[in-house]
Amino acid sequence: MASRKKSTTKITKSINIAVKEILKGNLIALPTETVYGLAADATNEEAIIRIFETKERPFFDPLIVHLKNIKEINKYGTDIPDDVFKLAKEFSPGPLTYIVRKKPIIPDIVSGGLDTVAIRIPAHPMIQKVLHKSGVPISAPSANMFGRISPTSAEDVLKELKGRVNYILDGGQCEIGIESTVVSFLDDEIKILRPGYITKDQMQKVLRKKIILARDKTRKGRHKKDIFSPGMLKSHYAPQTPLYLTDDVKEFESQRNVGILDHSRYDSLEDVAINLFSDLRTLDEKKFAYIVSSKVKDKGIGVAINDRLQKAATGRVKMGKWEIRFIEKKVNKDGDV
Ligand code: TXA
Ligand code: MG
Repeated sequence: MASRKKSTTKITKSINIAVKEILKGNLIALPTETVYGLAADATNEEAIIRIFETKERPFFDPLIVHLKNIKEINKYGTDIPDDVFKLAKEFSPGPLTYIVRKKPIIPDIVSGGLDTVAIRIPAHPMIQKVLHKSGVPISAPSANMFGRISPTSAEDVLKELKGRVNYILDGGQCEIGIESTVVSFLDDEIKILRPGYITKDQMQKVLRKKIILARDKTRKGRHKKDIFSPGMLKSHYAPQTPLYLTDDVKEFESQRNVGILDHSRYDSLEDVAINLFSDLRTLDEKKFAYIVSSKVKDKGIGVAINDRLQKAATGRVKMGKWEIRFIEKKVNKDGDV
């Protein structure tokens, strides 16, 4: 990786600064309704390379391109199926990302050499303003170091990227808290590559056709060709402290030096999602020996929450009569669990 000049990172609320930085070919961290993104002009190859370097993200893991409105989809994507527009009418601007064939105007580096592009129309008013005023499409992966916890506030971005970016545009706490649903429309199939806030059921209601959750296929005999999204390969969203999944976190309450991620203190799964990454980060900062969490009900947005927990986890833990048993996560040859 090329050497990088260290900068003093400033938190700002100025849209003009953000627009200037983007048009200069610089990076800026900015808010979306899901999580904060590390943004750059998607048509500026050098700026895009700097995103990968800053996050220490491998070049094969492609970036989402954020557009200001639905009309722009045809400008950057090609052969767009009607289903994309049907869903966009319902859910965009919002936390839904469409994988479609890309036009050459999007540099290959954005999509990790694939001939496809991930398109999202974000809803947060600040990124909307930056998109409108700059007039360029904006690439923005989550504003965390590769594999780490996604930030949901300007302060959390600072913890991840201090000294690595000039400015963080402060848009307060993200309203949703987990990343967008990524859905692919290639080869006449509709596949959810990453579950998110928009659920399979919600999309099925609009389209009235089969939608596959990529994970459904991965239980047995998964082949290389089943890896649809490079981002599915790795362990993700991970704290520095080992996170273990367990059936009942209450059993660990008497243990010293164990951090407990207790979802039962929230009334709804929406609230669990909003707080998931920031709670995990707060526990991580306390330097426990390990953190325990249970999964939530695998319904609606619970599917996305469980996906993030599973990817963040080191393994499972069981409270036996005589001992605590740690079961490391088994990684199969595709790197998935
Ligand atoms: O909510 C979100 O989606 C946030 C905000 C900032 O917009 N962004 C985000 O970006 O989560 P990132 O880069 O952390 O995750 C994007 C995911 C990755 O898993 C990546 O592999 C996948 O989308 N992806 C991007 N382009 C793709 C493509 N052409 N084909 C398949 N997967 C793609
Ligand atoms: Mg990410």
